[in-house]
Formats: sequence, C-alpha cells, structure tokens
Amino acid sequence: MAEIRIQNLHKAFAEFTAVKDSSFTVNDGEFFCLLGPSGCGKTTTLRMIAGLELPTSGQIFLGGEDVTFKRASARDIAFVFQMFALYPHMTVRQNIAFPLVSQGMAKSEITQRVAQAANTLHITGLLDKSVSGLTSGDRQRVALGRAIVRQPMAFMMDEPLGALDAEFRELMCEELRGLHDRLGATTVYVTHDQREAMSMADKIAIMNQGVIEQLGAPQEIYERPASVFVADFMGSPSMNFIPVSAALARGATTIRVSGASLGLPAVSDAVTERPLLYGVRPEHIQLSADTGLRAEVVGVDYLGNCQIVTLTTAVGSTVRAKADVRSPAQRGDQVGLVFDAAQVSLFDAASGRALRTARDDIPVSLIGTRGGAAHG
Ligand SMILES: Nc1ncnc2c1ncn2[C@@H]1O[C@H](COP(=O)(O)OP(=O)(O)OP(=O)(O)O)[C@@H](O)[C@H]1O
Ligand SMILES: [Mg+2]
Repeated sequence: MAEIRIQNLHKAFAEFTAVKDSSFTVNDGEFFCLLGPSGCGKTTTLRMIAGLELPTSGQIFLGGEDVTFKRASARDIAFVFQMFALYPHMTVRQNIAFPLVSQGMAKSEITQRVAQAANTLHITGLLDKSVSGLTSGDRQRVALGRAIVRQPMAFMMDEPLGALDAEFRELMCEELRGLHDRLGATTVYVTHDQREAMSMADKIAIMNQGVIEQLGAPQEIYERPASVFVADFMGSPSMNFIPVSAALARGATTIRVSGASLGLPAVSDAVTERPLLYGVRPEHIQLSADTGLRAEVVGVDYLGNCQIVTLTTAVGSTVRAKADVRSPAQRGDQVGLVFDAAQVSLFDAASGRALRTARDDIPVSLIGTRGGAAHG
C-alpha cells in the first residue's frame, strides 16, 4: 500500500477550471474523503489520481513515485464507482476473477485470491451463483470483490453507495469502513454526503468550486470550521449564523446583538467595525424564559430523541436549536436564546473566513466537552 501526494493540481476544461491548485497528502493506509457539493471537482480530482484524466498542471505521487504522466493501467490503483457494473451472464466467481484473468494470472493464484476476497467480504456462499439474481447489497459486495482481488496499492471510490436507499447506505458504510480496516488499504472516497464522510473518514478534504476549503479529521472540521461554507456544509441541521456589525478588542469575550450580550471564546486579534457572523450549532443553544437574545418560536419538529425548535430572532435571522424532548417550547412562545460561549465560531461576513479565537488553541478532542453542551 502507499501514500498518495497531490501537489498544486490544476484541471481546466477549456475556459472552465474544475480543480484549482489542490494540494494534499493521503497517508499510507488512510481512509480519505473528498467531500463537497455537486460540481465542486471531486470526480475530476479522483480521475486524475487514477490516471483517467490528465492534469493541466501539478504533480501526483504514488508511493513516492511521480506518476503524473503514467497511464492508468500502470498505476496499480483500483477505481470503484457507483457499482452494479457487473457482467450479468457470469457467476460471482467469474466476475471477481475477471481482472485477474485479463492480466493472464496463473489459475491456482486466481483461485486462491478469489477465495480470499470472497472471505473478506463474507460472500463465499455466493461464489457459484449468477449475479443477475443478487440483491443490490450483494451486487455491491461483488463489485468490491472485483476491486480488492487485484490487491492494488490504493482504492479510488466515487460515490459507491450513491444508488442505495438511506438505511442500506448506513449499513454499507459500516461494512466499507470495516473492509478498509481489514485490508489497511489507502483509500480515497468521494461523497457529497457529510454524514457519510464524518462516519467513515480518517481525514476529510472539503471542496467548494474546485478549491479545498479545509483539510482535517472529521472532528476538527466539525468543531473548528475554517469558513462559513464548511460550517454550513457540515452538520444537520447546520450551524446557525446570526449577523452582527461590531468592532472587537483583542481578547473580547462578548458581542452585543440587539440589546443582548452574547458570549464568545476570546478573539485573538482586534477586529475593526465590520459585518460579522456569529456561528452557533443547534446543540449549543439553550432556550431561556428571561435572558439572552430575544426570539419567537416559529416551529417545533419532534424527532423522537430530540426536538428541533425553529426560531426567528430579534435581528430577523432564523435559528434552529436542538432541544430535549421534554422541552415545552411551542409555536408563538417568546423566549431568550443563550449560547454556549465556548462552542461559538465567529466569521468575517465579507470573506466568509473564520476569525481566530481562543477556541483554536484548545486541543480539538477537548472542545466538545468544555462548558457542557446546553440542551434547553
Ligand atoms: N470532461 C469535461 N468537460 C467539461 N467540463 C467538465 C468535464 N468533466 C467535468 N467537468 C466540469 O467540472 C466540474 C467538476 O466536475 P466533477 O465531475 O469533478 O464534479 P463532482 O464534484 O464530482 O460533482 P458530482 O457530485 O455532481 O459528481 C463540473 O462543473 C463539470 O461540469
Ligand atoms: Mg462526481
């Protein structure tokens, strides 16, 4: 298996730039997710790594070797996309063996590798069945079998679970991650689903319009989003943004919004008067009778294990708070919003970039436990 290093990768299709100056390293054995909305350049990036697309500029290293201009077939990378691309007239065994047969591998070696792959995927009992009668999950496993049987240096997976319904996707996510842990194979996994990326990835690169906005472990990205785009993309319901115009002294720990004083982690640098966005996640909001930012409850969604309370604040913005199922909030209630100051992010409204605060100096493993998340 191998490390993948991408250096200043750039891809233009005529006038349109699909990938802009992208640089990242996927460590040996890592499960790396490329995450972002439709059209942000995920597939293009993956295809360049696999050698299916030539970059306009930049370099790609596989296991330390510069493979930028190497043909796909010479790269020892298996590419798995939305599966089901199986040969319907063949058995499971023949489907899995297919890449090895095409390579002209010796029969005994093929038999052994197919058995091993089937065992890893728990589909040994299906080997002599025809693929045409299989469930979608088993077809998916066979398609994976065809990729792992090659024992490649790395796997590229492009939304492999895209065609499945939600419940089954969750199960396959677990299976895929389990498979990855058994094989220890370097994997680049493309998805537009933040939950999929958060649950599976060791590291996430979140892309927006061809640019990597942030690179980090799932918790790092969720807890310390580098931009409004990232904060908004990660989490469901997503982060709330309350617009405010203010000047802040270095070390300030409060900000005035419509008569209320909202807490902040101490800001690292003074901020001159400008439009800001006060960012707070739904799980870090408490509803209070008398203190905090005034708001009116405009909706309550009961989700079984919590309630999502939608409010309109005194400054006109919409806020979603995650509340305990016992919360008595009802549409029409006038309440105060109290925010868990230690958990707040602050953004420059014009650039969308996060402002540096004391929160950036706390080890990310401790952030979620500080101040005790409030549930109103
Ligand atoms: N061969 C091509 N010629 C012209 N434009 C292309 C080509 N391939 C991709 N693009 C454009 O590049 C952009 C990025 O495409 P890409 O397929 O990488 O996006 P993606 O992040 O994988 O999106 P999705 O989630 O929809 O699969 C898109 O705007 C797409 O239209
Ligand atoms: Mg794509």
